[in-house]
Amino acid sequence: FINCALVSHFCWHMLKTRKCILKKKILVSASRQKHTLPDLTYDYGALEPHICAEIMQLHHSKHHATYVNNLNVTEEKYKEALAKGDVTAQVALQPALKFNGGGHINHTIFWTNLSPNGGGEPQGELMEAIKRDFGSFQTMKEKMSAATVAVQGSGWGWLGYDKDGGRLRIAACANQDPLQGTTGLIPLLGIDVWEHAYYLQYKNVRPDYVKAIWNAINWDNVSERLQAAKM
Ligand SMILES: *[C@@H]1O[C@H](CO)[C@@H](O)[C@H](O)[C@H]1NC(C)=O
Ligand SMILES: *[C@@H]1O[C@H](CO)[C@@H](O)[C@H](O)[C@H]1NC(C)=O
Ligand SMILES: *[C@@H]1O[C@H](CO)[C@@H](O)[C@H](O)[C@H]1NC(C)=O
Ligand SMILES: [Fe+2]
Repeated sequence: FINCALVSHFCWHMLKTRKCILKKKILVSASRQKHTLPDLTYDYGALEPHICAEIMQLHHSKHHATYVNNLNVTEEKYKEALAKGDVTAQVALQPALKFNGGGHINHTIFWTNLSPNGGGEPQGELMEAIKRDFGSFQTMKEKMSAATVAVQGSGWGWLGYDKDGGRLRIAACANQDPLQGTTGLIPLLGIDVWEHAYYLQYKNVRPDYVKAIWNAINWDNVSERLQAAKM
């Protein structure tokens, strides 16, 4: 699988390539409207017993909301720096844009990757692609679980689409860099393994959380994302 930490440095120097589309998007959006916290399409308790209501509530209404607010504030400062032509200030704001913009993007994907009617197996083209690229659905799950559990500290496990290679890939990212901006992979399915995503319910036993979350995966959404990524 891909380790974001290894490619992010490369990415940093390739700002003009499409591998860094995300960063450019964040910069461009600085001149547009504020970001908002997206509503969930299900209740905080709807993913129980796999993810408890208290985790969902804090994760969405506190953690994600904080990323959105800080993204708004940072973009506001960025606009001022742009208007003044203050390049030093613009550069200094990059880490905050990356952190809060990345957090906003990741979580927006994550909520739609989950569903109270989730679990089971993917269908159709997604299933075919999984079998082609990993051998079987079971193998894909095992590989993604292992990579996700192994993330050191905070991070995410991802199933992404490699558009150039036309194949699915697993990536594990321990740093703050959003998936697409660093690996070029289009995110289809993300598993958040920051402690705020599981600690209240699973304590330090991250593997149990990762095992349980497969029961809440919205494969229709992952399929929709694959269709969109291929276009
Ligand atoms: C960020 O934007 C959202 C949406 O407009 C808004 O709800 C929130 O209050 C904003 N936060 C700040 C600090 O501007
Ligand atoms: C967003 O996802 C990237 C890629 O997995 C990860 O490195 C980063 O820690 C995430 N950021 C947040 C704030 O969750
Ligand atoms: C699934 O993902 C797509 C993005 O491809 C998003 O626009 C849509 O709202 C999501 N659908 C559901 C049911 O979560
Ligand atoms: Fe999170």
